[in-house]
Amino acid sequence: MEKKNMVFIATSLDGYIADRDGGIDWLHAIPPPNDSDMGYGVFTSQIDALLMGRTTFETVVGFDVEWPYEKPVFVLSNKLKDIPEKAKGKAFLVNGTLEEVLEHIHQKGFYRLYIDGGATIQSFLKEDLIDSMIITIIPKLLGGGIPLFSDLPKALDFECIESTVYSNKVVQNTFVRKR
Ligand SMILES: NC(=O)c1ccc[n+]([C@@H]2O[C@H](COP(=O)([O-])OP(=O)(O)OC[C@H]3O[C@@H](n4cnc5c(N)ncnc54)[C@H](OP(=O)(O)O)[C@@H]3O)[C@@H](O)[C@H]2O)c1
Repeated sequence: MEKKNMVFIATSLDGYIADRDGGIDWLHAIPPPNDSDMGYGVFTSQIDALLMGRTTFETVVGFDVEWPYEKPVFVLSNKLKDIPEKAKGKAFLVNGTLEEVLEHIHQKGFYRLYIDGGATIQSFLKEDLIDSMIITIIPKLLGGGIPLFSDLPKALDFECIESTVYSNKVVQNTFVRKR
């Protein structure tokens, strides 16, 4: 099966994925359209597993809700020694180079991966390992925070294959890496 590393993320208008305190409450400033999950269900039906950074994992673990993912979650971390009770059997620690980590996940039969977390996405982009990005832009200038993008060793071209405006308020663009 074809290997794919895909991003599905929301940013502020100025490109942040979390505010200065690491908070994401601003994401919910605009209520989602009643009849739509803004493509999340279709996207997650197309993935085999998630690979996220430790900070994003800890944010999700901290939510006062049931474990939200049906697919296995691999957590990139050098610091975490154990998976919290809530996510045991559903999330798995991984570390090493991205090549090693991907090889490990592919060997388990997971090929289409949802890559999540700012630092994690940036490290994938640095090695040109991202194949597509669905970016939902919340029309708010946060003025600072955790950025989605950072410096890259070389420019990377993407093609915008779809653009949707939800409730006339939120724009979602789908970019595919042009190789
Ligand atoms: N707007 C959105 O849709 C959205 C989506 C996801 C996350 N978020 C928010 O974004 C914030 C998290 O982003 P983040 O940039 O802080 O980090 P992140 O990518 O979630 O986590 C970074 C951590 O992952 C671990 N890691 C291990 N290997 C790595 C590698 N090769 N590359 C990168 N990281 C590696 C490191 O943990 P160790 O220190 O344990 O080694 C590193 O500190 C949270 O506040 C989260 O809520 C927002």
